Amino acid sequence: MSVLIAPSILSADFLNLGKDIEMLNNSDADWIHVDVMDGMFVPNISFGFPVIEAVASVAKKPLDIHLMIEKPERFIQQFVKAGASYLSFHYEGAVHLHRTVQMVKETGTKCGVVLNPHTSVGVLLDILPDLDFVLLMSVNPGYGGQKFIPGSLRKIEAMRKLRDSLNPDCLIEVDGGINEANAADVVAAGADVLVAGNAVFKSANPLDAIIKLKA
Ligand code: DX5
Ligand code: ZN
Repeated sequence: MSVLIAPSILSADFLNLGKDIEMLNNSDADWIHVDVMDGMFVPNISFGFPVIEAVASVAKKPLDIHLMIEKPERFIQQFVKAGASYLSFHYEGAVHLHRTVQMVKETGTKCGVVLNPHTSVGVLLDILPDLDFVLLMSVNPGYGGQKFIPGSLRKIEAMRKLRDSLNPDCLIEVDGGINEANAADVVAAGADVLVAGNAVFKSANPLDAIIKLKA
């Protein structure tokens, strides 16, 4: 399987969001990554339901909603209703992780758990068999355009081993600081899905940037 690309609309042009979604519809992108921030779990606020619903109404690719919020269990139904095909939330923000994973799965939406850079992949041991994907942060969440943390590569390798032995169908997604220069290393380490914000939307030719990331 070739690597999947999930451009993050956090770096899109919000004054012309419809145009950017149309661009993604006509691109080689596989998923549309949607970053939701609450100003508590991360030191930033992004956007909420009205914006996501508007995006969903025109998007022709599955929405991959990444919740950077405390107590994500409060809003699972609403994000599913807003149009999530893939829905992930942080290990660090969900006390009853197993229950919240089941809440997502009962809706038929694909469920992922996200790990911050400092959180070891070992914490996923008991939940991994239930997951459709894991999302490894390769920057500290909260902002687009940050630098890839190099130690993430070893972590992706460790995740790959765990995944292959416990749940081979579970996808490994990596998020933060991915660009043309490091994408090949991230894939070689074991990633199946690459999130890219700045590398796509700040590029002079986003369509081409997506193709290059995929290659
Ligand atoms: C960071 C977000 C990322 C971010 C990626 O908190 O989760 O999805 O938008 O942006 P880049 O690719 O620019 O690091
Ligand atoms: Zn993200």
